[in-house]
Amino acid sequence: MLIINEERLLERIHTLGAVGLDAGGHRTRLAASDEDKAGRDLVSRWMSEAGLTVVTDYIGNLFGIWTPENCADAAPLMLGSHIDTVINAGQFDGCYGVLVALEVVETLKASGFVPARPIAIGAFTNEEGVRYAPDMMGSLVYAGGYPLEKALASVGTDGTVLGEELRRIGYAGTVEPGFLKPCAFVELHIEQGPILDTEGISIGAVENLQGISWQRVTIEGEQNHAGTTPTAYRVDAGLAAAKAITFLRRRCELPDSRTVATTGCIAFEPNAINVIPSRAVFTVDVRNSDAQQLCAEEQALADYLAELERTDRVKITAERLSRFDPVLFDEGIVQLIERSATARGLSCRRMTSGAGQDAQMLARICPTAMIFVPSIRGISHNPLELTRDADLAAGANVFLDVVAQLAAKE
Ligand code: GLV
Ligand code: MN
Ligand code: MN
Repeated sequence: MLIINEERLLERIHTLGAVGLDAGGHRTRLAASDEDKAGRDLVSRWMSEAGLTVVTDYIGNLFGIWTPENCADAAPLMLGSHIDTVINAGQFDGCYGVLVALEVVETLKASGFVPARPIAIGAFTNEEGVRYAPDMMGSLVYAGGYPLEKALASVGTDGTVLGEELRRIGYAGTVEPGFLKPCAFVELHIEQGPILDTEGISIGAVENLQGISWQRVTIEGEQNHAGTTPTAYRVDAGLAAAKAITFLRRRCELPDSRTVATTGCIAFEPNAINVIPSRAVFTVDVRNSDAQQLCAEEQALADYLAELERTDRVKITAERLSRFDPVLFDEGIVQLIERSATARGLSCRRMTSGAGQDAQMLARICPTAMIFVPSIRGISHNPLELTRDADLAAGANVFLDVVAQLAAKE
């Protein structure tokens, strides 16, 4: 059986992982930042060295394309993920998928494999959505789900405009997103959750992905003195925010609830120890793999915020930042993943992706599925994110087999 070059793969993961590390060991490569540029430069050099044609589209998605002469006109098989990161990130999220895709194409080329279609590897812009919303932006625009102009006009958390930043770092692109019409898309990713590690299973055949709802909630209260204002006189925006956050958690703890909810950002004004907050602004990330239940959670929060306006005399507005329905992946590719894992003697189980993924967007335009490998203790979006080398290599070899079979099909 053909195998990937594990040493080359690990070396590239660690080299890319060192890009954006500060003196304190914090790794941050936000979309279209200087650090992202350095990561892109590295990946695009590796793509060129592998003999791929390197192309960037107008939303900054970076592609390395292998177009063998015998099948130049066939619809390409597309692989890939992202290389942008969250703040203080691990080194595997996204990067593993992009670098294994490159490794697999190099392995196939070197083996004399003759594909029946081109293979394109994508590193999609702003998957994380930390600097610019919505998340999965590059793949969403690529799949025609969000207007290019609107995406380029997105204003970041630091006041920058994405289109200007892409131009500044030299990745404003030369072709329309969607320029290649893939016959299928496959993404390899670390699980980022604890299931595979806990159950001692090597491979996840990802059959679906939960829906994601992002909102920004603003609560207006009345700024007043922390010492002199009796409790009954207070209109406390901070307290109302705390109640809303606690409400979300209580919903998640209801029996049989499969909802997860997070408030990852919060800011008070004027943000002083002895002043009752006049304003609280916080984010809400709610996820559920059932479309109706996700709607029910959004409605429950809206009802609770309306109740808080009455009980706490605050004014509340909620703004939608992004929203994606749950996605079902392609059953044929999921079965191919299961067969490929079994053929390598690896344990495998079907699973749901809890994280948002570029595959979620590509699924709009072609048959799509994902492969997961274990994350130790399920830690991710954290520098401690870790997958054992043997698991990284096993996932890459399963991916190799899946890619070879999909690319060999007329
Ligand atoms: C992406 O990492 C997400 O699921 O938020
Ligand atoms: Mn990711
Ligand atoms: Mn991520």
